[in-house]
Amino acid sequence: MSIQSRKQEHVNLALSGKVTFREKTNGFEHYEFVYNALPEIDLADVDTRTVFCGVELRSPFIVTGMTGGYPDAERINRGLAEACDTCGIAMGVGSMRAALEKSESDPTFTVVREVSQRVPIIANIGAAQAALWHREGSLQSFVERAISMTGARALAIHLNPLQELLQPEGEPRFRGVLDAIAALVRMELVPIIVKEVGAGISGDVARRLADVGVTIIDVAGAGGTSWAGIEILRRNDASSVDHLWDVGIPTAECVRQCTGIVPTIIASGGINNGTDAAKALALGAHLVGSARPMLEAFAANGTDGVVAQIQLWELQLRQWMFLTGCQHLNDLRSSTILRRVP
Ligand SMILES: Cc1cc2nc3c(=O)[nH]c(=O)nc-3n(C[C@H](O)[C@H](O)[C@H](O)COP(=O)(O)O)c2cc1C
Repeated sequence: MSIQSRKQEHVNLALSGKVTFREKTNGFEHYEFVYNALPEIDLADVDTRTVFCGVELRSPFIVTGMTGGYPDAERINRGLAEACDTCGIAMGVGSMRAALEKSESDPTFTVVREVSQRVPIIANIGAAQAALWHREGSLQSFVERAISMTGARALAIHLNPLQELLQPEGEPRFRGVLDAIAALVRMELVPIIVKEVGAGISGDVARRLADVGVTIIDVAGAGGTSWAGIEILRRNDASSVDHLWDVGIPTAECVRQCTGIVPTIIASGGINNGTDAAKALALGAHLVGSARPMLEAFAANGTDGVVAQIQLWELQLRQWMFLTGCQHLNDLRSSTILRRVP
């Protein structure tokens, strides 16, 4: 199957309602805020602004990378970019491999910069691909093109060994990935974000990434979209791999393990609402990402649907900040306002 039809199939399956985790949750239900009856702030004082890659965001949200590289992806990326522009948040695009391997610019990716000059865009490539390009000596030129095509402020490298293992056309070749990431950090083109795609990054992996100079990790933990599930549904031998459907580290656990290891943690993977987002920030994350819920909102109600969802999450975050007496996002990252529910 061509990369283009595979990407279309991924979006269709993501919207099918069948690709959530079966038993595992994002883990945030194990935490609750300690209610503060004396917050000593006004709701109007609550300030959700933050700075990401040199750009001020109105609230600490990112629509994380999903698509590009097949005809209908232009419509989706345009709509998501419009919503991010309206809400003043950041946006990632999907894997750019197909676009980078041909010479013309691909409108499904360039559209995001056409829509908005101010949304910080995150370009995206796969880790196994980065390792291959690094071995071949072409990594820097591909990455420079990815950044210029999208006007990106950062580059995400996605770690997806579970997905590559299960994808019928997968390439489960991860030897040399850390070297390639180290090389990307040394190039100093834009900040490098290392992300998973829904199975999570552990504290141990975060330490190995920090050792080569990575400063931003998007944990993309378990509890939301199961990429194992998406690929299992694309196979005709599902019964032999079905036991891998729920593999992954719940997002709350990833955030707890990774906090303090690198300067910036993005919490994502199964974030369902502003309450999950507030808890992720209180556990130590600096920003919160979401993919499939945003795609679903777009499929249901277009750009307005995405804007409404982001605004609702921002409102819920503000409510929790008021109820815990936190004026700024930094105040949220305090160990005393969230407790583990026995
Ligand atoms: C349709 C779809 C396509 C995706 N494609 C990519 C991709 O190309 N690169 C990437 O890094 N992550 C990709 N992801 C993963 C998301 O960025 C995110 O890490 C993951 O879906 C977990 O977040 P969620 O539970 O909010 O969906 C994709 C997700 C979806 C739903």
